[in-house]
Parts: sequence; C-alpha cells; structure tokens
Amino acid sequence: VLDKAVEAANSMHRDDLVFSYKGIPYPTTLCSPEGFKALESFEARSDDVILAGYPKSGTNWLSQILTDLIAISQKKTPGEESSVNAEKVDEFPYLEVGDAEKYERMTKLPSPRFMATHLRPENLPKSIFKNKVKILLLIRNPKDLATSFYHFSNALAALPSYETWDDFFTDFMTKKMCWGCYFEYLSEWNKYADQENIMTITFEEAKENPALAVKNIATFFGIPLTEEEHQLVVQRSSFQAMKKNSEKTHGSFGNIFFRKGGVTDWKNLFSEDQNKKMDKAFEERIAGTKLGKKLKY
Ligand code: A3P
Repeated sequence: VLDKAVEAANSMHRDDLVFSYKGIPYPTTLCSPEGFKALESFEARSDDVILAGYPKSGTNWLSQILTDLIAISQKKTPGEESSVNAEKVDEFPYLEVGDAEKYERMTKLPSPRFMATHLRPENLPKSIFKNKVKILLLIRNPKDLATSFYHFSNALAALPSYETWDDFFTDFMTKKMCWGCYFEYLSEWNKYADQENIMTITFEEAKENPALAVKNIATFFGIPLTEEEHQLVVQRSSFQAMKKNSEKTHGSFGNIFFRKGGVTDWKNLFSEDQNKKMDKAFEERIAGTKLGKKLKY
C-alpha cells in the first residue's frame, strides 16, 4: 500500500497530495472520498480489536502489541502469521486507507479482526459504537508528536513536505495537517474517554513501563497471558526489537517509522516562542479534560 502511494505521489504536484473530506485534509494517495463513503456502512463486529491514534502517536508500536496478543489468543506464535507488515496481513490495517471495496473484503476475514485508525470518533462508522467494539485509544505529548510528524512528512512522499520546521509548526497549530488538528482530535475523543469499551493509553506511560502497558492492554481485551507470553510480547515490541525487525515488517519504510522512539526530542526543534504557543494552546484547549490530565506534559 505505501509503496504504491509513494510511487503515485512522486509524480504529483504538492498541492494535489491532499484532499479534503468533511473539512479534514487527507493524503490523496492513501484515502479517497469513495472510500470514506463506503466506510460509513462498514459493519463492525463486537469482537473487532481497534487501535485509535493520531498519526505519529506510536500506532505501529501498539499495533505490534495488539497483533501479537491476538495471535496468542488464537494459540499462534507471535510474528509467524500476524504482523503489522502491510504486505503480509490480509488487509492494510488502517481502516480508512485503501480502496472502496476493502470493506466488502473485510467481511470475509476471521474474527477477531485487528484494525487501526487515525480518524476522529465522529468520522468512524457508527456500527463501532453501536456494537460496543473495544477501542484502545493511544495519545502522545503533542510536542513529541509534532516533532515526529515533521520528520515523517519530509520522509514520506505521500505527505506534503516542509522546507522548514517553522512552516510545519504553523500548519500543525492550525487545521492543515493530514487527519486534521491534533488538539481537535483530542477534544473529540475526549467526549468518548469515559466509555467502558475505550481504554486510553499514553505513549509516555507505555515507554516508561512497557510490561505494565502490555498487561493492562491484555486485561482490557480479555486475553490471558502466561509469564512467558507476557515477556515475549514486551520483548518483541521494544523499540530496538521493532527497529531491528523493521526491514521484514515495513520493508524500505522501516527507518521512517522507527526513528528515535523516545520522549523529549521536541527540545531539538522548538523555539522558546513555539514552546510557549503550544503550552498556551494545550492549556486552553486540552489541559482540563480527561485526556489532557492523562497526558504527561
Ligand atoms: P519518533 O519519530 O519520535 O521516533 P506511528 O507508528 O504512529 O507512525 O508513530 C511513530 C512514532 O512511534 C515514532 O516516533 C517511532 O519511533 C515511535 N515508535 C515506533 N515503535 C516504537 C516502539 N516500539 N517503542 C517506542 N516508540 C516507538
């Protein structure tokens, strides 16, 4: 999927790389208005496993944890069959990425189906909430997320690149990013944060205590783990292990997706003024909310 997107993007003008759907920009080579229309009638199953996270919040990392947990729940060996590798799974795991026929094909996939999404809740198919599908909601400190997104935008041809960090920062603080403004994303998901079928996890807490994160996620999805299985999932999802394995799982995109994998890299990019601007936006828009309180900031 990404190979094709990059190939198509290479011959496109920067302005054509993005289209708008319901007021939110998306990459033309990955999403389409027809796809979004078809997605509306997607029928979720109550045992689907969904990971929701804004781009660069660590979705590939948590995808690896979830697909390994699903494999264990099916008595399979993690890594042998289920993998975040776009070429190996039956469908590209990101719900909104793909052609309009994808959702019909997904009806043939065995349960539990894993899917990830960068969409806001109001743009997800209604059946997900109606059927009370369990959702792991992943959030990340906006400063590190913006830093990660900047490097990613300049590395992946499917996204508009930026000559300077300052230009990127200006767009990030408004609505111009693909998948929309992160602050709006957080506000929208905050409306759902109390639902019992939604578990919120931060990039920072998973980084600080990966063993606990894996345990909590497995408990939430009702997947019992032996000590050995627990350790295996933790070990396989470490940044070092995933980076090492990335050529196998992500082909030539490995280095792009597994860049630094840490916290506080934002200090290398943010000016004092930008830091203040983001603090102010965070304070005004997110800090007082449930998700805002959970984000280490
Ligand atoms: P950085 O660019 O800050 O390094 P996504 O998967 O949503 O695109 O997010 C990518 C970010 O998650 C990147 O952040 C990447 O390095 C980080 N990441 C990926 N795997 C990770 C892991 N196992 N542990 C910690 N961070 C990881």
